[in-house]
Amino acid sequence: MSSIPPGATIGILGGGQLGRMMAMAARSLGYRVQVMDPDPSCPARFVVDACFEGSWKDAKAAANLARGSDVVTLEIEQIAIESLEAASRFAPVRPGVAMMRIIQDRILQKNWLKDHAIPVGRYEPVRSSHELQSAIDRLGPQCFIKSARGGYDGRSQAKHGFEGGAANEDIAAIWKLLGERDCIVEKAVSLEQEISVMVARSPSGEIKCFPSARNHHENQILVWSVIPSSIPSLLEEQAHSLAIRIAEALGLEGVLAVEMFVTIDGELLVNELAPRPHNSYHASERACDTSQFEQAVRAVCNLPLGDVSLVRPAAIANLLGDLWLEREPRFDAALAVPGVHLHLYEKHMPRKGRKMGHLSAVGNTPDEAVARVLEASGRL
Ligand SMILES: Nc1ncnc2c1ncn2[C@@H]1O[C@H](COP(=O)(O)OP(=O)(O)OP(=O)(O)O)[C@@H](O)[C@H]1O
Ligand SMILES: [Mg+2]
Repeated sequence: MSSIPPGATIGILGGGQLGRMMAMAARSLGYRVQVMDPDPSCPARFVVDACFEGSWKDAKAAANLARGSDVVTLEIEQIAIESLEAASRFAPVRPGVAMMRIIQDRILQKNWLKDHAIPVGRYEPVRSSHELQSAIDRLGPQCFIKSARGGYDGRSQAKHGFEGGAANEDIAAIWKLLGERDCIVEKAVSLEQEISVMVARSPSGEIKCFPSARNHHENQILVWSVIPSSIPSLLEEQAHSLAIRIAEALGLEGVLAVEMFVTIDGELLVNELAPRPHNSYHASERACDTSQFEQAVRAVCNLPLGDVSLVRPAAIANLLGDLWLEREPRFDAALAVPGVHLHLYEKHMPRKGRKMGHLSAVGNTPDEAVARVLEASGRL
């Protein structure tokens, strides 16, 4: 299969921070880039040749993007299947429509993983408030309830059976909160830690796995992440082999982040799949020989994949809109910490919980990289 050479045009469905950073990597390789996004002032707008305005359901806008593109990829999994199909009439869409259909729906995704003998935690799909109650009776009391479709950063999710303000004990209220739509109920896993593995596969079948990242979430939002994760080498091998099996069985063309739980019994369970660059691999820009963004470009253009070896440990900390609510963050103080860099996404409206940017830091060890990035974010 031939490659799409530098100089060609890449269309990206979605112009958020992931689209922006992918576009920057693509530009650096000499590609032209255009994006489609509902917001004409999206983060990618300053770094691309053209920005098409259109919602994820706007098949016409997706087709227009594809018409002027040599290949189309995406930065968000919620692009409507009709839009992906419309785009695929004009340019190859990578990752492909069949795989996106499975990933977009948490129920289909979990069933697919289970059918392919990939270890996942206990879960049940539910279609009514009554089914929700019986699933919690069987799996609970501690459960995560997630809408089958939509949702990121813990949105469209509820917790049951936990102490404290975030949890909700009223089943009818949870059902209502999640929009009275199909959901998945997951038994809460006792976590030792969370990791992710980014795997890239090109249309020719070349496949490469980045070293695993260790991820720290609070209130279901990623706070910091570090590469490498420092898990034992046997577990690392198992994590890679799971990611490779998934990528091959899905016929991945592009990159795929496999989020995993390491249970307190040392078992690996797959949490969810993200068929695009992932927040937990932003540190790959500094930790690895090839960044996740460049790798995504190489994969969708069917170029040889880049070397993913670890160059040095690096960590990131997310900057949420909360930081802006009272005053501008003190970037100068943060940047005075050795090894620290600032990455802002040029979003104009800071909102609570909105990802506005991140800090990255290198260190001689993963712990040092995390300590530096947290020190810097503490100074903001
Ligand atoms: N079954 C579970 N057991 C324990 N913790 C869980 C479970 N499900 C979710 N969590 C916690 O909530 C976080 C977010 O969950 P999940 O990845 O399903 O949601 P998301 O909205 O897609 O998040 P993101 O966009 O950050 O990936 C997980 O990383 C984990 O910390
Ligand atoms: Mg997740």
